[in-house]
Amino acid sequence: MARRATQYICQACGAVSPKWAGRCEACGTWNSLVEETGGGALAAPGPGLGKGRVVELVPLKGTSEDAPRTVSGIGELDRVTGGGFVRGSAILIGGDPGIGKSTLLIQAAAAVSGSGRRVVYVSGEEAIGQVRLRADRLGLGDAEVSLAAETRIEDILTTISAGTPPDLVIIDSIQTMWTDSVESAPGTVTQIRAAAQALIRFAKKAGTTIVLVGHVTKDGQIAGPRVVEHMVDAVLYFEGDGAHRFRILRAVKNRFGPTDEIGVFEMSGQGLIEVSNPSALFLGDRDAASPGAAVFAGMEGTRPLLVEMQALVAPSPLGTPRRAVVGWDSNRLSMVLAVLDAHCGLKLGGHDIYLNVAGGLRILEPAADLAAAAALVSSLAQAPLPSDAVFFGEVSLSGAVRAVAHASARLREAQKLGFSRAVAPAGNVAEAGDSPPVPIESIESLAGLVARIA
Ligand code: TYD
Ligand code: MG
Repeated sequence: MARRATQYICQACGAVSPKWAGRCEACGTWNSLVEETGGGALAAPGPGLGKGRVVELVPLKGTSEDAPRTVSGIGELDRVTGGGFVRGSAILIGGDPGIGKSTLLIQAAAAVSGSGRRVVYVSGEEAIGQVRLRADRLGLGDAEVSLAAETRIEDILTTISAGTPPDLVIIDSIQTMWTDSVESAPGTVTQIRAAAQALIRFAKKAGTTIVLVGHVTKDGQIAGPRVVEHMVDAVLYFEGDGAHRFRILRAVKNRFGPTDEIGVFEMSGQGLIEVSNPSALFLGDRDAASPGAAVFAGMEGTRPLLVEMQALVAPSPLGTPRRAVVGWDSNRLSMVLAVLDAHCGLKLGGHDIYLNVAGGLRILEPAADLAAAAALVSSLAQAPLPSDAVFFGEVSLSGAVRAVAHASARLREAQKLGFSRAVAPAGNVAEAGDSPPVPIESIESLAGLVARIA
């Protein structure tokens, strides 16, 4: 009989190693290998050739229906899932502890419940009393949601398999779940993977939507939900920080919908409130024209979003000046600084530079280059930008300002929020037509922008 092998499994990425090491060779995380016995969930018996059954092959062509969905009625959530929870699918919602995952999901559970739909909320972290208390605080005390405080997968599956399968099952959180079928301790990658696998199998079979909550930990001490990301149909991240009221739900993977939509919520005393006009919220606390602030007309998926980019440029007392970015890509900042240096003659090598996107939003679009550059130049020159202008455009390494997509939507949003001009790439002027929502001051190069501000 084969000796049961001891393995070391990286709790960050799930890589298996025969011996312990201080650093995972697969993902490079330090101190993440944990001893686990047995191959766990993946150790299935090898199929003997010729012993399989004949499966039915169907032609690719033919009619296909849209995946049936359970609409939650929470607009911002449905926007991110692509129009509601797809039946029989599994969704992972990740996020830092305390960000509001349980709050969002109890609200979603309550919204889905009723009109004959069955919703089960399984909490592995809180007692029934605590879940009830929260629901009461949120004014959802009457919702027809079934609760359980359980962590053993076998018990949970037996419970939800009895009778008509529920429409929605929420597992809060997958890290607390464990199954008899593997020996590893709860919370390890092997347990999480096995538990998720069993739940996902149930979802497919019963046509139930399963939502798994997963905590993201920075130090990799508790198994991250990354191993589960490959197994589920959609991965949503709930982001934001404690200092801000805004919470952003973003899809990073979605087999049944878009991945560039975001849902915006505000955390209040009555739980999460949908923000259907996020621009107004993100620009809410704006100072009257101060140097270093530029309003970026951005896009998040199909929705335009105005947000303020703030820069501080100051001579540095340090040999190596500081560069700090919050909410934007630091490589992108380096690139814009290099272009300002090489093509506009702005020497910033001896300056500390800070760039911040207001409201805790994270911007991923290259179209933000021009707004970032405008904020930087404005701070350096101590010259406030016109408070009625928005900026957008991509900066290339040659110093040219390139056209970006969705110019019309950006301009309309600017008009809606009371702005009266847009500083934008010359290449976007034609698309905006003869009478754009707000007049465009077209820019062909970054040097042109600098000349205008300084
Ligand atoms: P929670 O949903 O428990 O976070 P998670 O499940 O992601 O760990 O939310 C925790 C925070 O939300 C907590 O600090 C309190 C705050 N909160 C409110 O501000 N208002 C509310 O109505 C609720 C229920 C929570
Ligand atoms: Mg929670």
